[in-house]
Amino acid sequence: MNWDYIQPVKISFGKGRVSEVKDIAASIGCENGLLVADPFFFTNGLAERIVKESGGAITATFGKVSPNPDVTEVDECADLIRQNQIGFVVALGGGSSIDCAKAAASICLTGDSIRKYHGTGVPMPVAHLPLIAVPTTAGTGSEVTCVSVLTDHASGRKSPVVSDGFYPSYAIIDPELTYSMPPKVTAGTGIDVLSHALEGYWSRGHQPICDACALHAADLVFKYLYRAYENPMDEEAREKMCEASLIAGLAFTLPKTTSSHACSFPLTNLHHIPHGEACGMTLDYFARINAKGEEGWRIDRLAEALGFQDTGDMADAIHDLKEKMGLRNDIKDLELSEDQIADLVRISRHPNLYNNPMEITDEQLKEMYQKLA
Ligand SMILES: NC(=O)c1ccc[n+]([C@@H]2O[C@H](COP(=O)([O-])OP(=O)(O)OC[C@H]3O[C@@H](n4cnc5c(N)ncnc54)[C@H](O)[C@@H]3O)[C@@H](O)[C@H]2O)c1
Ligand SMILES: [Zn+2]
Repeated sequence: MNWDYIQPVKISFGKGRVSEVKDIAASIGCENGLLVADPFFFTNGLAERIVKESGGAITATFGKVSPNPDVTEVDECADLIRQNQIGFVVALGGGSSIDCAKAAASICLTGDSIRKYHGTGVPMPVAHLPLIAVPTTAGTGSEVTCVSVLTDHASGRKSPVVSDGFYPSYAIIDPELTYSMPPKVTAGTGIDVLSHALEGYWSRGHQPICDACALHAADLVFKYLYRAYENPMDEEAREKMCEASLIAGLAFTLPKTTSSHACSFPLTNLHHIPHGEACGMTLDYFARINAKGEEGWRIDRLAEALGFQDTGDMADAIHDLKEKMGLRNDIKDLELSEDQIADLVRISRHPNLYNNPMEITDEQLKEMYQKLA
């Protein structure tokens, strides 16, 4: 088996370490920094504090980032970078803010709109401004991935753009920043972590280093997600979920995600189900399907290493965990028509689906969505 591994992001992990943004900003040797932050951090004072502490290194801010960021937000952010001759970017927020910042920090060096590269297969230029990523959810792992997931709401397309230029230069993971996540966001983003770990593991591109990361991250999710959900101020659970999110990011960035992420795109786009919750909805279903494949023994072995009897037992635990945290295990309330189910099937046929270890047919997707609906 041949495989390659690369991880170019410098990582600083620990409570309170957001205060190190100023030192890293100074060490980069660039001036005129832009802070791209989730709107929430302009209301609780953290964005202002980071700008102030930067001692003049950060000169502008951008806060127009919505969950599932739109391509127009990336273009607007890139324009701001061009107009102000920004030298580096700090991204503060969940996957949405980090992904918007990553794409803007690359596209700003071209005269293009991100639309040229989003869902078109045109390769992104690798040149980019230095980026410091500071995640505030324990979810996407975007701080260490080469992926930016963007949505073109006008054309109804959500899809990842992949570029080696998207790896941030630095990631600062400060668990304290996640304490303010409401339980519903903790639950959804935490199930996203589990999806990254399991999908990275069973991906067609799986490889030993990422497998080890997947096992470690999944173990932490099963041990600590419910604690973080129940008690947002449980410091140990928050820290362990941040560790899980980061390490699950390492587990999937090279092998890439598979079927559950493919199905999440239409569930989010058409029916507004948040990213993590949408991924989690089909995770136990695909675990059971994939365990029947040629490499199904690998998934059974992972389940056993996590303390379950087999994949079926692990899938039951995933289903129960979602239920306990009030996450969706079905979409019955949406009262979907046959045409709407057909749309879900059609749009789930996304490139990530072809990275699933088992071939997934339209009939299987239809049967799955009919059961969920
Ligand atoms: N780049 C990648 O590698 C990658 C991987 C998986 C998913 N994604 C993408 O990332 C996006 C989802 O990111 P996410 O799940 O981190 O959520 P998010 O960034 O969309 O944020 C979700 C909500 O939580 C709020 N929030 C974030 N942090 C908070 C905090 N500490 N306290 C209070 N509120 C907070 C935000 O304001 C927002 O309303 C999706 O677009 C998804 O497709 C990217
Ligand atoms: Zn995800």
